[in-house]
Amino acid sequence: MKVSIAIDGPAAAGKSTVAKIVAKKLHITYIDTGAMYRAYTYYCLEHGIDCQDEAACCAVIDEVNIELLPGDKVLCNGEDVSEAIRTPYVSSQVSYIASYKDIRLALVEKQREMAGRKSVIMDGRDIGTYVLPNADVKIYQIASVETRAIRRYDENISKGIDCTLEEVLEDVRKRDYIDSHRDFAPLKAAPDSVLLDTSYLTVDQVVDAIIEIVEEKMGKEVLTLNG
Ligand code: DC
Repeated sequence: MKVSIAIDGPAAAGKSTVAKIVAKKLHITYIDTGAMYRAYTYYCLEHGIDCQDEAACCAVIDEVNIELLPGDKVLCNGEDVSEAIRTPYVSSQVSYIASYKDIRLALVEKQREMAGRKSVIMDGRDIGTYVLPNADVKIYQIASVETRAIRRYDENISKGIDCTLEEVLEDVRKRDYIDSHRDFAPLKAAPDSVLLDTSYLTVDQVVDAIIEIVEEKMGKEVLTLNG
């Protein structure tokens, strides 16, 4: 049985944390689409391209080759950028890159290609509305902006990334605004998605809730999937 699960929602809602665990439990592939926009942003920054200059950012589309490998590894033109794409500087610029239609079209093509071959759980902003409109299960995962900022701040500190809670809160607010106000494939809940507010839930509780939603839709045998 092939299954596709779309998880969308605002920045730092914990989508990737739970998607990775659900992927393991269901033996399916996790695809982190945000990492692709981050890798593209990293490339622009490394090449001195202003991320607010749409024409300049889109002009290098053919030069940027992004690969997602097992174990959360992200390659940009063969270079391992898995950690470099998580810095606050990349986070502060990535929403500009993700608002450019030509870049989105190129990355979405890759995302659909990856999902076409196997069972996947894919997280992002436009998965249920645009990338995989026929996904079997669609979740729209939210949490209050304060909760999300605290979670991201704690994550940064545990990784040794220097930041203040105020900076993270400001970045999350800014990204939410840009991601939900762009013209092409903005962040929004698909009409057929299930809303999951994780503000007061632990990671395990969110994982259990998602598995339950998937089982309800696909049947218990979904747990025996093996990709
Ligand atoms: O999920 P994330 O924080 O790693 O995503 C980084 C940025 O990429 C986010 O601010 C919005 C953008 N993004 C998007 O526009 N569409 C996606 N499918 C995934 C991410």
